[in-house]
Amino acid sequence: MEKMPFQPEQERTTTMVGVFSTTTTTVTTSDWKAGLPVLTGAGFTLRELRLEDAASLLAMLTTEEVSRFISPPPTTVEGFERFITWANRERQAGNYACFAVVPTGMSVAVGIFQLRSLEQGFGTAEWGFALGSQFWGTGVFIEGARLVLDFAFDCVGARRLEARACVANGRGNGALSKLGAVKEAVLRRSFQRHGQYHDQVLWGILAEDWRLQRRSLQFATVVH
Ligand SMILES: CC(C)(COP(=O)(O)OP(=O)(O)OC[C@H]1O[C@@H](n2cnc3c(N)ncnc32)[C@H](O)[C@@H]1OP(=O)(O)O)[C@@H](O)C(=O)NCCC(=O)NCCS
Repeated sequence: MEKMPFQPEQERTTTMVGVFSTTTTTVTTSDWKAGLPVLTGAGFTLRELRLEDAASLLAMLTTEEVSRFISPPPTTVEGFERFITWANRERQAGNYACFAVVPTGMSVAVGIFQLRSLEQGFGTAEWGFALGSQFWGTGVFIEGARLVLDFAFDCVGARRLEARACVANGRGNGALSKLGAVKEAVLRRSFQRHGQYHDQVLWGILAEDWRLQRRSLQFATVVH
């Protein structure tokens, strides 16, 4: 998620932008444009963003270690509230979906997974993710990512998901690699941060690859 589609500096003018088991695959579709389903993992849920997530997301996603390789997140609670309002509007328009990561026992988000359509009908989409650093290495990422990939390919109908990660972003690239994403290219000097241009790895996952790969995973999800 090097480039968040929502950009704080564009706030005023922006117009842009299943239940699945390992043995038998059951696809649950949902009218995701009307509202995102709640996806349940071990120790957390993924749900629609709410305005009350703003303060927690500000605390979690604006630290230097989280934000150093992604486009600048909003810098205020109000900025995150505008992002959440924008996200819900873009979801209704069918352009974008953003899940809040909410650990069990908490009521607010500690991270996000987002999907952005790159073509009419969401056939090709870009996805990205960020978690508060205290949740790194806990397993939340990998399970949340699997839930989001199932959602993208089975509910939304995406054919191909792309992710861009700065070459220097070890965790971001490591996370994508262990999901089975394919390193397709290096996009030279394609991302600007703190006035410097960085090379990014372009990672791709195809629906058919994911459907084959997930069969081998001991993993079940619940969609409410
Ligand atoms: C990206 C992010 C969501 C991943 O969550 P996470 O909990 O850190 O991910 P995980 O620990 O499950 O996986 C990261 C993997 O990268 C590996 N890794 C860590 N540093 C690495 C490095 N320098 N080089 C290669 N791999 C590295 C880890 O060992 C781990 O693999 P393992 O589980 O096999 O040991 C989280 O790190 C984050 O929010 N980062 C900041 C935002 C960001 O960069 N987003 C991604 C943009 S593409």
